Amino acid sequence: MTKTINILISDPLSEDGIYPLLEEKDLQLNIVSNTGLSPEELKAIINDFDVLLVRSQTKVTREIIEAATNLKLIGRAGVGVDNIDLDAATEKGIIVVNAPDGNTNSAAEHTTAMIMALARHIPHAHMSLQEGRWDRKKFVGVELKNKTIGVLGFGRIGQEVAHRAKGNRMNVIAYDPFLTAEKAEKAGVAYGSVEDVAKVADFITMHTPLLDSTHHMINDDIFAIMKDGVRIVNCARGGIIDEDALFRAIESGKVAGAALDVMEEEPFVGNRLLDLPQIIATPHLGASTIEAQESVAVDVSNDILSYFKHGTVLNP
Ligand code: NAD
Ligand code: MLT
Repeated sequence: MTKTINILISDPLSEDGIYPLLEEKDLQLNIVSNTGLSPEELKAIINDFDVLLVRSQTKVTREIIEAATNLKLIGRAGVGVDNIDLDAATEKGIIVVNAPDGNTNSAAEHTTAMIMALARHIPHAHMSLQEGRWDRKKFVGVELKNKTIGVLGFGRIGQEVAHRAKGNRMNVIAYDPFLTAEKAEKAGVAYGSVEDVAKVADFITMHTPLLDSTHHMINDDIFAIMKDGVRIVNCARGGIIDEDALFRAIESGKVAGAALDVMEEEPFVGNRLLDLPQIIATPHLGASTIEAQESVAVDVSNDILSYFKHGTVLNP
């Protein structure tokens, strides 16, 4: 008798993207969508499932993994796996798969939109109009042309953002531990250390994962060597920037503005940074397009099927 594979989807996923699972004929799948569970609720039911499929909201902690005696695979419909305790999963032999490039374009486009919105005060100018003011002097912006943008993390999204910045006639300087002179030359960018980037950039945009080595990589010391009036963009992960240091750097006038899609604690409603007029923010929308959500869900669904049919995955 064919064994049923029980799949729990615990974050909202694109229905159009999970069609490989919905249309599967060879395997017997039982797909349960149960979103918005508290950690206690998830812990109470996780034992019933072979697969857990998440976005970034569900925190797959050691406690959840240890309670999951039947779990074989955790699928992450997106890039960052910082919401999953990888050590705990590895210790229990649970495979973790992600969708590394399905949302690259959307995240790069969102970053580019944030850079432009920041340079031209678009959210604040819009709000001012809605409040009945015709305030043209207050919202004088800066051009991107001939400015230098520092790209920290020159992976998939960092490279796409750099490409678009060059289209806006910006100079690009990147830092990535794996960036070589040859690769930088091919991409048409300068490269250097974090400090080199901090010293010359007019805009600095983050595109690293959140790791021990990137936690608070932008801190008081790095802000201190930045140019006065620098603008900061973070559409990667909260925690890469020390938020208290950012607050101080904005208050002192060192940082002219910051555009944030992510913060250390999410949801970040009520974060004191949001009260500063120099901040613009979006609620973790980098990958929130119809195309990206469909694409990451398709990729991770196909990996689940591949694992149960052939014992192999594309994106471990
Ligand atoms: P990627 O793996 O392709 O690139 C990350 C790059 O960071 C790699 O080139 C790596 O070498 C580099 N890196 C690692 N440690 C570093 C360090 N200490 N200093 C500088 N660079 C370092 O990943 P990606 O797809 O480009 O995604 C980048 C980040 O964006 C991830 O954190 C991801 O979760 C996040 N992301 C956010 C959204 C969103 O909705 N806001 C959407 C997609 C991705
Ligand atoms: C990611 O890492 O892919 C993003 O944060 C997008 C998401 O929330 O899935």
